[in-house]
Order: sequence, then structure tokens, then C-alpha cells
Amino acid sequence: MTSIALYNLKGGVGKTAASINLAYLAAADGLKTLIWDLDPQGSSSFYLNATPGFKKESQKLLSGDADIKEAIQDTAFENLWIIPADLSSRNADILLDEQKQSKKKLKSLLASLKQFDLVILDAPPGISLLHDNIFNAADWILVPNIPTTLSIRSYETVQEYFTENGLDTGKIKCFFSMVDHRKNLHHEVIQQFYKDKIFFKNYIPYLSDVEKMGVHQQPLFEFANSSYAAQCYRDLWTEIKKNVL
Ligand SMILES: Nc1ncnc2c1ncn2[C@@H]1O[C@H](COP(=O)(O)OP(=O)(O)OP(=O)(O)O)[C@@H](O)[C@H]1O
Ligand SMILES: [Mg+2]
Repeated sequence: MTSIALYNLKGGVGKTAASINLAYLAAADGLKTLIWDLDPQGSSSFYLNATPGFKKESQKLLSGDADIKEAIQDTAFENLWIIPADLSSRNADILLDEQKQSKKKLKSLLASLKQFDLVILDAPPGISLLHDNIFNAADWILVPNIPTTLSIRSYETVQEYFTENGLDTGKIKCFFSMVDHRKNLHHEVIQQFYKDKIFFKNYIPYLSDVEKMGVHQQPLFEFANSSYAAQCYRDLWTEIKKNVL
């Protein structure tokens, strides 16, 4: 089993859109794929039309009061399962702080998901104890970056955080997200960072078909399979598969 966390310190950069679309492509490739929505906003759960099966599910999972297997739900798609989110994970830090090995709880939960080929963690933005858990647990931290000054700055902050806390920076991989071809700054930042092998060559442009996922409440491929946006995610997925699976 390989685990990939979609993460950025910054919000609204395309983590959830990528979680859903990459998980969908992995499942379509025949990989038994689980998407674990760790964000109390529950956006991945919304796209896959899933709600938790029992009350305070996220809270109970993180505190060890519920069996993770009971939280796994089917989706409308073959080979794709989800652990949905609810608002109870907003208290994740307090819950985790009360646990032994408080930075490694998620790692031990992931160890019981060996029946999957791929687990995708849709992380909330920020840096907290939950994020320490994500950084320790996931095999790869996949960071969507909008090619702007502030976004790149937050990516550098994360790199520093990894180094200062003895975390493995080798886990971090990035791709550019919401790229606007009309903006010179986007082109300049992309060229500058492509020298850095951490960045995948394929990127996701700013395209309204991606935004429409919210309207259709579906992965992109279900309503715009032949779109340019769908092709961009396919190309990115092919590159990710080659490099991290
Ligand atoms: N490539 C794109 N082109 C246009 N719109 C996009 C693209 N990617 C995401 N969006 C839109 O931008 C918004 C934020 O995207 P998304 O929810 O994937 O980001 P996020 O990083 O998960 O946000 P959060 O930090 O709140 O969890 C959504 O409305 C989404 O539809
Ligand atoms: Mg999100």
C-alpha cells in the first residue's frame, strides 16, 4: 500500500480537486483506492456524495473509539472507497494530544489499511498536530502550488518545518495548480522551479471545468471526460504513477 497526502499550508490551492481526480484515475487503473477525507470542511466527501455512517465518526477514529474498517464506505465507482469527514475532526489536535505517540496515531491507523493499493489523504490547510501525523504517516506529501509569490513562500515554510522537525523532506513532491497561462508571473515562477526536481513537469491549469465539479458533485471525468482539464489530470497521474508508486 502506498499513501499520498494532498497537502499545502495554504488553503484553496486545489488539494481536494486533485485528491478526487487522482483517486478516480487510480481506481480506473485498477488500484484499490481509498480516499480519506481529513478536512472538517468535508469537500471530498461532498464530491463523492458520502456522509459518515455514525456520529462524531472522525473524532472516534482519531481517538481510537471506533474501528476504522467500519468507517470505510463504497462510492459510486469501482475500486474507490472513502472515509468521509465530519465537523468532529475540527478537534483533531486536542484528541491527538491526549493519545500516546500523539504524532504517530495516524501512522498506526494507516497500517491497518493494507487491503488497499493506494490511500489518498485529503488534508486540511495549516500546520498542527494533525499535520505532524500526516507528515509522519504518508509515504508522499504531494503539494499543489499556485505559481505565485505567496504560494511559493508557504511551500518554502513547509520545507523549513520539515527540516527543523526532523521530518523527511524527501517525501515532498509538488505540482503547479491553477496555472493561468495569461500571467507572466506564473510562467516565470514555473520556469524557476522546474530546475527543482521536486516539481512534476505536468501541471493543472486554471480551468472552469475543474470548478464545475462542485456543480455536478462528481469527479471531472464523469461529466467532462474529453476536456483539456481531464487530459491534464491524466498526464499528471501518469507522471505520479511512474515516480512514486
Ligand atoms: N484547476 C482549477 N481551475 C479552476 N478552479 C479550480 C481548480 N482547482 C480547484 N478549483 C476550484 O477552486 C476552489 C478550491 O479548490 P479545492 O477545494 O480543490 O482547494 P483546496 O486546496 O482543497 O481548498 P481547502 O484548503 O479549502 O481545502 C474550488 O472551488 C475548486 O472548484
Ligand atoms: Mg480541500
